[in-house]
Amino acid sequence: MHLHIDASRLSSELNALATFSDTPSPSVTRVVFTETDLKARTYFKSLCSAAGLIVREDAVGNTFARWIGTEPDLPAVGTGSHIDAIPNAGMYDGTVGVLGALEAIRALKAASFSPRRSIELLLFTSEEPTRFGIGCLGSRLLSGPKSLMAGEAFKDREGKTLNQARQAAGFTGPVESVALPANYYSAFLELHIEQGPLLEQRGVGLGIVTAIAAPASARITIEGVGGHAGAVLMPGRRDALLAGAEIALAVEAAALSTNSIDTVATTGVCQVSPGAVNSVPSRCTLEIDVRDIDQARRDSVLEKIVAACREVSTRRSIPIHYQLVNADPPAQCSPEIVEAIVATCQAEGLPYDLMISRAYHDSLFMSRIAPTAMLFIPCRDGVSHRPDEYASPEAIALGARVLALSLARLSSS
Ligand code: HGY
Ligand code: MN
Ligand code: MN
Repeated sequence: MHLHIDASRLSSELNALATFSDTPSPSVTRVVFTETDLKARTYFKSLCSAAGLIVREDAVGNTFARWIGTEPDLPAVGTGSHIDAIPNAGMYDGTVGVLGALEAIRALKAASFSPRRSIELLLFTSEEPTRFGIGCLGSRLLSGPKSLMAGEAFKDREGKTLNQARQAAGFTGPVESVALPANYYSAFLELHIEQGPLLEQRGVGLGIVTAIAAPASARITIEGVGGHAGAVLMPGRRDALLAGAEIALAVEAAALSTNSIDTVATTGVCQVSPGAVNSVPSRCTLEIDVRDIDQARRDSVLEKIVAACREVSTRRSIPIHYQLVNADPPAQCSPEIVEAIVATCQAEGLPYDLMISRAYHDSLFMSRIAPTAMLFIPCRDGVSHRPDEYASPEAIALGARVLALSLARLSSS
Protein backbone atom coordinates (compact mmCIF):
# COMPACT_ATOMS: atom_id res chain seq x y z
CA MET A 1 0.00 0.00 0.00
CA HIS A 2 1.39 3.40 -0.98
CA LEU A 3 0.74 5.39 2.19
CA HIS A 4 1.42 9.11 2.38
CA ILE A 5 1.37 10.85 5.77
CA ASP A 6 0.93 14.58 5.21
CA ALA A 7 3.43 15.71 7.85
CA SER A 8 2.98 19.41 7.20
CA ARG A 9 -0.81 19.20 7.46
CA LEU A 10 -0.42 17.25 10.72
CA SER A 11 2.02 19.82 12.06
CA SER A 12 -0.19 22.74 11.20
CA GLU A 13 -3.17 21.05 12.85
CA LEU A 14 -1.14 20.41 16.02
CA ASN A 15 -0.08 24.06 16.00
CA ALA A 16 -3.67 25.18 15.45
CA LEU A 17 -4.87 22.98 18.31
CA ALA A 18 -2.19 24.48 20.56
CA THR A 19 -3.69 27.95 20.09
CA PHE A 20 -6.67 26.82 22.18
CA SER A 21 -4.97 27.55 25.48
CA ASP A 22 -5.56 29.60 28.63
CA THR A 23 -1.86 30.43 28.91
CA PRO A 24 0.36 32.09 26.31
CA SER A 25 2.41 30.08 23.81
CA PRO A 26 4.58 28.01 24.04
CA SER A 27 2.71 26.78 27.10
CA VAL A 28 -0.67 25.07 26.73
CA THR A 29 -3.33 25.02 29.45
CA ARG A 30 -6.55 23.32 28.46
CA VAL A 31 -8.60 22.07 31.39
CA VAL A 32 -11.59 19.85 30.77
CA PHE A 33 -14.96 21.54 30.05
CA THR A 34 -13.51 25.05 30.02
CA GLU A 35 -14.47 27.32 27.10
CA THR A 36 -10.98 26.70 25.71
CA ASP A 37 -11.44 22.95 25.89
CA LEU A 38 -14.83 23.17 24.17
CA LYS A 39 -13.41 25.30 21.36
CA ALA A 40 -10.58 22.79 20.89
CA ARG A 41 -13.12 19.97 20.74
CA THR A 42 -15.14 21.86 18.11
CA TYR A 43 -11.98 22.25 16.04
CA PHE A 44 -11.22 18.52 16.36
CA LYS A 45 -14.76 17.50 15.42
CA SER A 46 -14.66 19.73 12.34
CA LEU A 47 -11.51 17.95 11.17
CA CYS A 48 -13.16 14.56 11.73
CA SER A 49 -16.29 15.54 9.82
CA ALA A 50 -14.15 16.90 6.97
CA ALA A 51 -12.45 13.49 6.87
CA GLY A 52 -15.84 11.80 6.45
CA LEU A 53 -15.96 10.24 9.92
CA ILE A 54 -19.21 9.83 11.85
CA VAL A 55 -18.88 11.76 15.10
CA ARG A 56 -20.73 11.22 18.38
CA GLU A 57 -20.16 12.28 21.99
CA ASP A 58 -21.14 10.47 25.18
CA ALA A 59 -22.55 11.88 28.41
CA VAL A 60 -19.15 12.94 29.77
CA GLY A 61 -17.69 14.22 26.51
CA ASN A 62 -15.76 11.20 25.29
CA THR A 63 -15.83 11.79 21.53
CA PHE A 64 -15.96 9.00 18.92
CA ALA A 65 -15.20 9.50 15.21
CA ARG A 66 -15.96 6.33 13.27
CA TRP A 67 -14.85 5.14 9.82
CA ILE A 68 -17.43 2.50 8.96
CA GLY A 69 -15.90 -0.76 7.79
CA THR A 70 -17.24 -3.20 5.20
CA GLU A 71 -18.51 -5.38 8.06
CA PRO A 72 -19.88 -2.71 10.39
CA ASP A 73 -21.35 -5.15 12.90
CA LEU A 74 -17.92 -6.51 13.87
CA PRO A 75 -16.21 -5.01 16.95
CA ALA A 76 -14.26 -2.00 15.76
CA VAL A 77 -10.58 -1.18 16.14
CA GLY A 78 -10.16 1.81 18.43
CA THR A 79 -7.39 4.40 18.59
CA GLY A 80 -7.01 7.85 20.13
CA SER A 81 -5.87 9.78 23.16
CA HIS A 82 -6.67 13.10 24.91
CA ILE A 83 -6.40 16.83 24.24
CA ASP A 84 -6.84 18.22 27.74
CA ALA A 85 -3.62 19.66 29.15
CA ILE A 86 -2.47 20.43 32.69
CA PRO A 87 -1.59 24.06 33.50
CA ASN A 88 1.51 25.30 31.64
CA ALA A 89 1.95 22.07 29.76
CA GLY A 90 3.30 21.42 26.29
CA MET A 91 1.43 20.93 23.01
CA TYR A 92 2.19 17.26 22.22
CA ASP A 93 1.00 15.25 25.24
CA GLY A 94 -2.14 13.46 24.05
CA THR A 95 -2.68 15.57 20.94
CA VAL A 96 -0.16 13.52 18.93
CA GLY A 97 -2.33 10.45 19.56
CA VAL A 98 -5.51 12.24 18.52
CA LEU A 99 -4.40 14.20 15.44
CA GLY A 100 -1.79 11.57 14.51
CA ALA A 101 -4.58 8.99 14.42
CA LEU A 102 -6.75 11.29 12.32
CA GLU A 103 -3.90 11.70 9.86
CA ALA A 104 -3.39 7.92 9.85
CA ILE A 105 -7.05 7.44 8.92
CA ARG A 106 -6.92 10.10 6.20
CA ALA A 107 -3.79 8.51 4.74
CA LEU A 108 -5.44 5.07 4.66
CA LYS A 109 -8.48 6.55 2.96
CA ALA A 110 -6.26 8.30 0.39
CA ALA A 111 -4.52 4.99 -0.24
CA SER A 112 -7.95 3.47 -1.06
CA PHE A 113 -7.68 1.12 1.91
CA SER A 114 -11.05 -0.25 2.98
CA PRO A 115 -11.25 -1.58 6.55
CA ARG A 116 -13.23 -4.75 7.24
CA ARG A 117 -13.74 -3.66 10.84
CA SER A 118 -14.72 -0.07 11.49
CA ILE A 119 -11.89 2.09 12.79
CA GLU A 120 -12.89 4.49 15.57
CA LEU A 121 -10.88 7.49 16.72
CA LEU A 122 -11.51 8.47 20.35
CA LEU A 123 -10.90 11.73 22.15
CA PHE A 124 -11.03 10.81 25.83
CA THR A 125 -12.44 13.41 28.16
CA SER A 126 -10.49 14.52 31.27
CA GLU A 127 -7.39 12.36 30.99
CA GLU A 128 -5.55 14.80 33.21
CA PRO A 129 -6.43 14.94 36.95
CA THR A 130 -6.32 18.76 36.99
CA ARG A 131 -10.01 19.50 37.42
CA PHE A 132 -11.54 16.47 39.14
CA GLY A 133 -8.44 15.21 40.93
CA ILE A 134 -8.34 11.83 39.22
CA GLY A 135 -6.63 10.80 36.00
CA CYS A 136 -8.34 9.19 33.02
CA LEU A 137 -11.86 10.01 34.21
CA GLY A 138 -13.35 9.56 30.72
CA SER A 139 -11.69 6.24 29.91
CA ARG A 140 -12.24 5.07 33.51
CA LEU A 141 -15.99 5.54 33.04
CA LEU A 142 -15.93 4.07 29.52
CA SER A 143 -14.23 0.92 30.73
CA GLY A 144 -15.69 0.60 34.19
CA PRO A 145 -18.93 -0.86 35.46
CA LYS A 146 -21.96 1.39 34.96
CA SER A 147 -21.47 4.06 37.58
CA LEU A 148 -24.47 5.89 38.97
CA MET A 149 -22.35 7.71 41.55
CA ALA A 150 -19.59 9.14 39.40
CA GLY A 151 -21.56 12.17 38.34
CA GLU A 152 -21.92 13.34 41.94
CA ALA A 153 -18.81 11.81 43.50
CA PHE A 154 -16.25 13.75 41.49
CA LYS A 155 -16.04 17.45 42.33
CA ASP A 156 -13.70 20.25 41.26
CA ARG A 157 -12.06 22.79 43.59
CA GLU A 158 -15.12 25.03 43.45
CA GLY A 159 -17.26 22.09 44.59
CA LYS A 160 -18.90 21.74 41.16
CA THR A 161 -19.76 18.09 40.49
CA LEU A 162 -18.91 16.22 37.31
CA ASN A 163 -22.63 16.25 36.51
CA GLN A 164 -22.87 20.03 36.88
CA ALA A 165 -19.69 20.64 34.88
CA ARG A 166 -20.50 18.24 32.05
CA GLN A 167 -24.09 19.46 31.72
CA ALA A 168 -22.95 23.09 31.70
CA ALA A 169 -20.61 22.09 28.86
CA GLY A 170 -23.52 20.57 26.96
CA PHE A 171 -22.87 16.89 27.72
CA THR A 172 -26.16 15.56 29.07
CA GLY A 173 -27.65 12.11 29.41
CA PRO A 174 -27.18 9.63 32.24
CA VAL A 175 -23.56 9.15 33.35
CA GLU A 176 -24.17 5.40 33.59
CA SER A 177 -24.72 5.35 29.81
CA VAL A 178 -20.98 5.97 29.30
CA ALA A 179 -19.73 2.44 30.05
CA LEU A 180 -19.15 0.54 26.79
CA PRO A 181 -20.65 -2.93 26.25
CA ALA A 182 -18.32 -5.95 26.29
CA ASN A 183 -16.38 -6.61 23.07
CA TYR A 184 -17.08 -3.14 21.76
CA TYR A 185 -13.53 -2.98 20.37
CA SER A 186 -11.44 -5.86 19.02
CA ALA A 187 -8.28 -3.86 19.61
CA PHE A 188 -7.16 -0.48 20.91
CA LEU A 189 -3.94 1.38 19.99
CA GLU A 190 -2.71 4.69 21.38
CA LEU A 191 0.05 6.81 19.82
CA HIS A 192 1.76 9.03 22.41
CA ILE A 193 5.01 10.86 23.07
CA GLU A 194 7.22 8.82 25.40
CA GLN A 195 7.37 11.45 28.13
CA GLY A 196 10.77 10.03 29.01
CA PRO A 197 14.30 10.10 27.56
CA LEU A 198 14.96 6.49 26.56
CA LEU A 199 14.06 6.49 22.85
CA GLU A 200 16.04 9.66 22.20
CA GLN A 201 19.04 8.37 24.21
CA ARG A 202 19.00 5.10 22.27
CA GLY A 203 18.44 6.84 18.91
CA VAL A 204 15.34 4.72 18.27
CA GLY A 205 12.32 6.30 16.64
CA LEU A 206 9.59 3.97 17.90
CA GLY A 207 8.70 2.42 21.26
CA ILE A 208 6.16 -0.36 21.60
CA VAL A 209 4.67 -0.39 25.08
CA THR A 210 4.31 -3.75 26.80
CA ALA A 211 3.14 -2.50 30.22
CA ILE A 212 1.82 0.69 31.84
CA ALA A 213 2.82 1.62 35.39
CA ALA A 214 0.30 1.52 38.23
CA PRO A 215 -0.75 5.03 39.29
CA ALA A 216 -2.10 6.08 42.67
CA SER A 217 -2.99 9.47 44.12
CA ALA A 218 -4.14 10.77 47.48
CA ARG A 219 -5.27 14.01 49.07
CA ILE A 220 -3.92 14.91 52.53
CA THR A 221 -5.65 17.62 54.56
CA ILE A 222 -3.84 19.07 57.58
CA GLU A 223 -5.83 21.13 60.10
CA GLY A 224 -3.44 23.24 62.17
CA VAL A 225 -4.15 26.30 64.29
CA GLY A 226 -3.65 29.68 62.66
CA GLY A 227 -2.80 32.95 64.31
CA HIS A 228 -0.81 36.16 64.26
CA ALA A 229 2.77 35.54 63.06
CA GLY A 230 4.08 37.96 65.62
CA ALA A 231 1.90 37.12 68.57
CA VAL A 232 1.86 33.32 68.47
CA LEU A 233 5.12 32.18 70.10
CA MET A 234 7.00 29.18 68.70
CA PRO A 235 6.36 26.76 71.59
CA GLY A 236 2.98 25.15 71.10
CA ARG A 237 2.45 26.33 67.55
CA ARG A 238 0.42 23.96 65.39
CA ASP A 239 1.62 25.08 62.01
CA ALA A 240 -0.19 23.14 59.23
CA LEU A 241 2.42 23.92 56.61
CA LEU A 242 5.31 22.56 58.66
CA ALA A 243 3.40 19.32 59.19
CA GLY A 244 2.80 19.24 55.44
CA ALA A 245 6.47 19.84 54.78
CA GLU A 246 7.42 16.85 56.91
CA ILE A 247 4.87 14.71 55.04
CA ALA A 248 6.16 15.82 51.63
CA LEU A 249 9.65 14.77 52.70
CA ALA A 250 8.22 11.47 53.96
CA VAL A 251 6.64 10.92 50.53
CA GLU A 252 10.07 11.27 48.95
CA ALA A 253 11.68 9.02 51.57
CA ALA A 254 9.03 6.32 51.10
CA ALA A 255 9.70 6.18 47.35
CA LEU A 256 13.48 6.04 47.83
CA SER A 257 13.11 3.34 50.49
CA THR A 258 12.13 0.70 47.89
CA ASN A 259 15.59 1.01 46.27
CA SER A 260 13.87 0.47 42.92
CA ILE A 261 14.27 2.97 40.08
CA ASP A 262 10.70 2.09 39.09
CA THR A 263 9.18 3.66 42.21
CA VAL A 264 8.28 7.35 41.94
CA ALA A 265 6.35 9.63 44.27
CA THR A 266 5.53 13.31 43.95
CA THR A 267 3.85 15.95 46.07
CA GLY A 268 2.57 17.99 43.15
CA VAL A 269 0.07 20.23 44.92
CA CYS A 270 0.51 22.12 48.18
CA GLN A 271 -2.18 24.63 49.14
CA VAL A 272 -1.71 26.75 52.24
CA SER A 273 -4.34 28.92 53.95
CA PRO A 274 -4.85 31.64 54.83
CA GLY A 275 -1.76 32.24 52.69
CA ALA A 276 -0.67 35.47 54.37
CA VAL A 277 2.97 36.12 55.20
CA ASN A 278 2.08 37.29 58.71
CA SER A 279 -0.33 34.50 59.58
CA VAL A 280 0.54 31.04 60.88
CA PRO A 281 -0.79 28.46 58.33
CA SER A 282 -3.99 27.00 59.71
CA ARG A 283 -4.62 24.52 56.88
CA CYS A 284 -2.46 22.74 54.33
CA THR A 285 -3.68 20.43 51.58
CA LEU A 286 -1.30 18.14 49.72
CA GLU A 287 -2.01 16.09 46.61
CA ILE A 288 0.42 13.23 46.08
CA ASP A 289 1.10 10.91 43.13
CA VAL A 290 2.73 7.49 43.65
CA ARG A 291 3.61 5.04 40.85
CA ASP A 292 5.48 1.85 40.20
CA ILE A 293 5.28 -0.93 37.64
CA ASP A 294 5.01 -3.28 40.61
CA GLN A 295 1.68 -2.82 42.36
CA ALA A 296 2.71 -4.37 45.70
CA ARG A 297 5.76 -2.11 45.89
CA ARG A 298 3.62 0.92 45.10
CA ASP A 299 1.14 -0.06 47.80
CA SER A 300 3.96 -0.46 50.33
CA VAL A 301 4.92 3.16 49.63
CA LEU A 302 1.34 4.29 50.23
CA GLU A 303 1.34 2.42 53.56
CA LYS A 304 4.53 4.22 54.64
CA ILE A 305 2.97 7.57 53.76
CA VAL A 306 -0.11 6.79 55.84
CA ALA A 307 2.17 5.83 58.75
CA ALA A 308 4.08 9.09 58.37
CA CYS A 309 0.81 11.05 58.48
CA ARG A 310 -0.09 9.33 61.74
CA GLU A 311 3.33 9.97 63.28
CA VAL A 312 3.41 13.66 62.33
CA SER A 313 -0.16 14.13 63.48
CA THR A 314 0.56 12.66 66.90
CA ARG A 315 3.88 14.45 67.44
CA ARG A 316 2.54 17.84 66.34
CA SER A 317 -0.99 17.37 67.79
CA ILE A 318 -2.44 18.29 64.42
CA PRO A 319 -5.35 16.36 62.86
CA ILE A 320 -4.34 14.98 59.45
CA HIS A 321 -6.87 13.42 57.04
CA TYR A 322 -5.52 11.05 54.38
CA GLN A 323 -7.89 10.32 51.49
CA LEU A 324 -6.88 7.80 48.82
CA VAL A 325 -8.22 9.05 45.45
CA ASN A 326 -7.18 6.13 43.26
CA ALA A 327 -4.85 3.14 43.34
CA ASP A 328 -5.06 1.43 39.97
CA PRO A 329 -3.41 -1.82 38.94
CA PRO A 330 -0.77 -1.70 36.21
CA ALA A 331 -1.72 -2.79 32.69
CA GLN A 332 -0.07 -5.54 30.72
CA CYS A 333 -0.48 -4.71 27.03
CA SER A 334 -1.90 -7.38 24.72
CA PRO A 335 0.82 -9.56 23.13
CA GLU A 336 -1.40 -9.80 20.04
CA ILE A 337 -1.52 -6.03 19.57
CA VAL A 338 2.16 -5.64 20.45
CA GLU A 339 2.90 -8.28 17.82
CA ALA A 340 0.82 -6.42 15.23
CA ILE A 341 2.87 -3.26 15.78
CA VAL A 342 6.13 -5.25 15.80
CA ALA A 343 5.14 -6.90 12.50
CA THR A 344 4.40 -3.47 11.03
CA CYS A 345 7.79 -2.10 12.09
CA GLN A 346 9.59 -5.18 10.78
CA ALA A 347 7.73 -5.06 7.47
CA GLU A 348 8.78 -1.41 7.15
CA GLY A 349 12.35 -2.13 8.28
CA LEU A 350 11.95 0.30 11.16
CA PRO A 351 13.92 -0.07 14.41
CA TYR A 352 11.85 -0.14 17.59
CA ASP A 353 12.22 -0.83 21.30
CA LEU A 354 9.86 -2.72 23.56
CA MET A 355 9.35 -0.67 26.72
CA ILE A 356 7.14 0.16 29.69
CA SER A 357 5.24 3.39 30.16
CA ARG A 358 5.93 5.23 33.39
CA ALA A 359 3.23 7.77 32.58
CA TYR A 360 -0.33 6.58 32.73
CA HIS A 361 -2.62 6.88 29.71
CA ASP A 362 -6.18 6.13 28.69
CA SER A 363 -4.79 2.82 27.43
CA LEU A 364 -4.40 1.80 31.08
CA PHE A 365 -8.20 1.63 31.24
CA MET A 366 -8.91 0.60 27.66
CA SER A 367 -6.80 -2.51 28.38
CA ARG A 368 -9.59 -3.56 30.72
CA ILE A 369 -12.09 -3.88 27.84
CA ALA A 370 -9.99 -4.54 24.73
CA PRO A 371 -6.62 -5.98 23.72
CA THR A 372 -4.52 -2.82 23.95
CA ALA A 373 -1.01 -1.56 23.22
CA MET A 374 0.71 1.79 22.79
CA LEU A 375 3.15 3.23 20.31
CA PHE A 376 5.65 5.82 21.56
CA ILE A 377 7.67 8.40 19.68
CA PRO A 378 10.62 10.27 21.19
CA CYS A 379 10.25 13.70 22.78
CA ARG A 380 13.22 16.02 23.21
CA ASP A 381 15.21 15.33 26.39
CA GLY A 382 12.22 13.27 27.55
CA VAL A 383 10.58 16.49 28.68
CA SER A 384 6.80 16.62 29.14
CA HIS A 385 4.19 18.53 31.16
CA ARG A 386 6.30 21.62 30.43
CA PRO A 387 6.04 24.33 27.77
CA ASP A 388 9.32 23.14 26.20
CA GLU A 389 7.86 19.69 25.47
CA TYR A 390 8.75 18.93 21.83
CA ALA A 391 8.42 16.14 19.27
CA SER A 392 9.74 16.65 15.74
CA PRO A 393 7.40 16.61 12.72
CA GLU A 394 9.42 13.68 11.37
CA ALA A 395 9.00 11.65 14.58
CA ILE A 396 5.27 12.41 14.69
CA ALA A 397 4.81 11.49 11.02
CA LEU A 398 6.66 8.21 11.54
CA GLY A 399 4.41 7.40 14.50
CA ALA A 400 1.32 8.20 12.44
CA ARG A 401 2.61 5.99 9.63
CA VAL A 402 3.21 2.97 11.86
CA LEU A 403 -0.13 3.57 13.54
CA ALA A 404 -1.88 3.67 10.14
CA LEU A 405 -0.29 0.42 8.97
CA SER A 406 -1.05 -1.27 12.30
CA LEU A 407 -4.68 -0.10 12.16
CA ALA A 408 -4.89 -1.48 8.62
CA ARG A 409 -3.49 -4.80 9.78
CA LEU A 410 -5.85 -5.07 12.77
CA SER A 411 -8.98 -3.86 10.97
CA SER A 412 -8.49 -6.42 8.19
CA SER A 413 -8.51 -9.41 10.54
O1 HGY B 1 0.29 11.86 34.66
C1 HGY B 1 0.36 11.14 33.66
O2 HGY B 1 1.02 10.13 33.65
C2 HGY B 1 -0.38 11.53 32.42
O3 HGY B 1 0.46 12.35 31.64
N1 HGY B 1 -1.61 12.21 32.71
MN1 MN C 1 -0.22 14.25 30.67
MN1 MN D 1 -0.99 12.01 27.94
